[in-house]
Parts: sequence; C-alpha cells; structure tokens
Amino acid sequence: MEMVVFEKIQQMKRYIADRRKAGHTIGFVPTMGYLHEGHLALVREAKRTCQTVVVSIFVNPTQFGPHEDFERYPRDIERDLRMLKEESVDSVFMPSTSEIYPQGYATYVRLKGLTDCLCGRSRPGHFDGVATVVTKLFNIICPDKAFFGQKDGQQVLVIRRMVEDLNMELEIVTVPTVREPDGVAMSSRNVYLSKEERKAAPVLYRGLRAAEAAFQKGERNPQRLCKIVTDMITSEPLARVDYVKIRSIPNLEPVALIDRPALLAVAVYFANVRLIDNVVLHSGSPY
Ligand code: PAJ
Repeated sequence: MEMVVFEKIQQMKRYIADRRKAGHTIGFVPTMGYLHEGHLALVREAKRTCQTVVVSIFVNPTQFGPHEDFERYPRDIERDLRMLKEESVDSVFMPSTSEIYPQGYATYVRLKGLTDCLCGRSRPGHFDGVATVVTKLFNIICPDKAFFGQKDGQQVLVIRRMVEDLNMELEIVTVPTVREPDGVAMSSRNVYLSKEERKAAPVLYRGLRAAEAAFQKGERNPQRLCKIVTDMITSEPLARVDYVKIRSIPNLEPVALIDRPALLAVAVYFANVRLIDNVVLHSGSPY
C-alpha cells in the first residue's frame, strides 16, 4: 500500500480509526525529521512488531529554549519522505506548528524531579516541551507501541515515567543507539559540526567506553568513573564539557556506589553545537 501523508489532526485520526477497525496494531515513531539511520532503526523495529506504522515529523518549538536552534534546525522533508517510503512506512504525520499549538493553546505536561538534572538542567523547560508534544501525539495516534532511542537516555525515562503516571495505555520500546563507524552517535545535529569538530567528536564515545572498561574491571565509584570520561574529553581541545554524570535508572538520582544498573551520560559542546551520548553501566543482564 502507498504511504499516506497527513498534515491535519482530523485526517490522521480518521486514518487511525480505519486501521483499528481493520484490526491492526499501531506502532508510532515520533521524530523531528532530518532522518538518519538512528531514526530508521526505530522505524524498522516498529515495522517488525506492529501492523501499521506511523512516523511523525514535527520540529516542536516548545522543547527549544529561546536561544536554541529551533529556527536553524535542519529540515529536508522530501528526503525524509523518500527514506520512509523505502522502509514501507504506512503513514506520516507532519502537522504545522499552528495545527499542534493553535491560538490560545494553554496546556503543558511537566514532570518533577526527573527533569531537573542532566539535559533538563542545561535546557530548562526542554522536557516540558517534549512531554507535552508527545502526549498530544499519543492522543492523536493512540499507538499500541511507541519507539524511542537510547541515544536520548533521559528522554526515554521521562516518557516512561509520564506514561505510567498518566495511565497511558501503550508500551514504550527503547531501541539501542545507532553509531557511525567511528563511534559517534548519529544525530541530526551532527551536520552543524565543522570538519575538525566532526573529527574530534568520537572523543565522547571513547570516554564512555574507557569508563565502561574500568567499570567491567570492578570500578564502582561514580566520581572516579566520571573523571575517566572528563579527562578523556578535556584532552580534546575543541571539546567543552557541559556535564558528565552517573545517575540511577529509572529515577535519575545521584548514586554513591554503583550496585545496580546506572546511566553514564555526557553532554559536550563543540563551539555552540551540543552533542549528547550515554551508556548503561551494568554488570549482569541489561536493564
Ligand atoms: P529526534 O531528535 O528527531 O529523535 C527522534 C527519535 O530518534 C528519538 O526517540 C531519538 O532518541 C531517536 N534517535 C535519534 N538518534 C538516534 C540514534 N543515533 N540511535 C537511536 N535512536 C536515535 O527526540 C526527538 O526527536 C524529539 O524530542 C521527539 C521525541 C520527536 C519529541 O519532539
């Protein structure tokens, strides 16, 4: 069947109602477009496990701070649609800003605690915007499953918490981070990097892997593990550390000693481009 594209909420809802009537399970992949292999990994997992797959493309203004990159966020709708067609995606939802936030829009979803640290601390209000738009998209598409990347580790935990707290009737699936051959986590923002910065960018994952190796050898002290990462990243002159932190899963609380799976997360600036990455530290089976 041909891939269908909707810009209006009502059309999207009607399509979903028809699919439901046909007995299909609905898989949903929310994105901001400018797609890459990381997004496609989510799409493929959705295709593998759901009968109808919907992808949204919406650069959500409420999750960008006033001095962030909303205006210049990379966009290429034609290319995105071609890529999604190739993956046999069933439907794409690409609403305008005013379709999602019409005149007089007033309602926001805000989580406490979980959003005060890591990226929430560096980007105040960011996760309110994410939680709000994801709630709206869930209400429009009513998926059985929604797919999120481990690349945005805090985002997945925020969404899982919100789904539980608000009794939303769907399953959240986490897909592992897809990386370039040199270890750099794929991101739409990688295009902002200069040639030199791009060459320096693998230092994030190199740092994370060095800490992971120390953890596997028995190091359980978060400060010492974070120092391994920080030292590695600061040895790269183009990189400026925003944060290097180890937090508990799923509540993102500080940990004194790592005796259960924990998130080691980093954010690093190259000039004004901010990249994030993370690994889960665990000794036995993954969380
Ligand atoms: P965006 O940055 O476009 O990412 C969409 C989804 O793709 C997210 O779940 C993200 O974690 C996942 N993703 C991005 N890069 C990845 C990689 N290298 N490997 C695996 N997954 C990757 O995240 C957002 O958009 C927005 O916040 C959104 C959830 C759409 C709400 O506006």
